[in-house]
Amino acid sequence: MKKIIIAASLIAASMAGLATAQNNPISQVKSTKKILVTYFSVPETSGVDASSGASRIVIDNKLYGNTEYVADVISKETGGDLFRINTQHKYADSNHRELVDYAKKEAETKSYPEIAAEIKNFAEYDVVFVGYPNWWYDMPMVIYTLFNDYDFSGKTIIPFCTHGGSGFSQSVKTIGKLEKDAKVVSMPAIPSKNIEKSTGAIKKWIADQGLNK
Ligand SMILES: Cc1cc2nc3c(=O)[nH]c(=O)nc-3n(C[C@H](O)[C@H](O)[C@H](O)COP(=O)(O)O)c2cc1C
Repeated sequence: MKKIIIAASLIAASMAGLATAQNNPISQVKSTKKILVTYFSVPETSGVDASSGASRIVIDNKLYGNTEYVADVISKETGGDLFRINTQHKYADSNHRELVDYAKKEAETKSYPEIAAEIKNFAEYDVVFVGYPNWWYDMPMVIYTLFNDYDFSGKTIIPFCTHGGSGFSQSVKTIGKLEKDAKVVSMPAIPSKNIEKSTGAIKKWIADQGLNK
């Protein structure tokens, strides 16, 4: 009889533990995670249409690059800190051809553009969203600089990408190879023609991961 009582109390205790874990609101779990949303984007001012690969979104008279717009949505949705990657080099944002040619040369010569400002307290972040436009079927070289400059080990990296038809190309795999000690979970790539229309899908993806604030 004594044994039955002990067994019954053990089962009750373990079920109570389970119930506590299950009833934990996601926000309590999430609040332990510090999120950074970092991105590179070149909003083009020349007004070339999206089918040619240029980017341009204007909301309330503010010009957004495609990746910048997505980064803004992610940051608002997750409550993560937003960090825009600027380079020492100023990319030609008013001459699409010049930008395209320069980026090609940069990739071919494997030049690593210097990032203009430091990400403060990088070590404190658990989850790092890394956003970029697909450039020449790859990530822009400055994203390689980012992975060279910072230690991502132990973090979850969430690449996000906007593109004119190539999706991520091989860039998610490349990030996995560069950052073997990190977990890489990619968001769906977002076509440049559908940036604003994708807002709902981006928010849903974040909620599905339990990363919304
Ligand atoms: C230099 C350059 C190279 C590009 N190469 C590709 C490419 O290889 N594949 C693709 O799908 N889109 C390509 N695009 C289109 C961009 O990925 C797309 O317009 C992106 O949304 C721009 O993002 P941003 O406004 O944040 O800079 C290229 C655009 C530029 C400027």
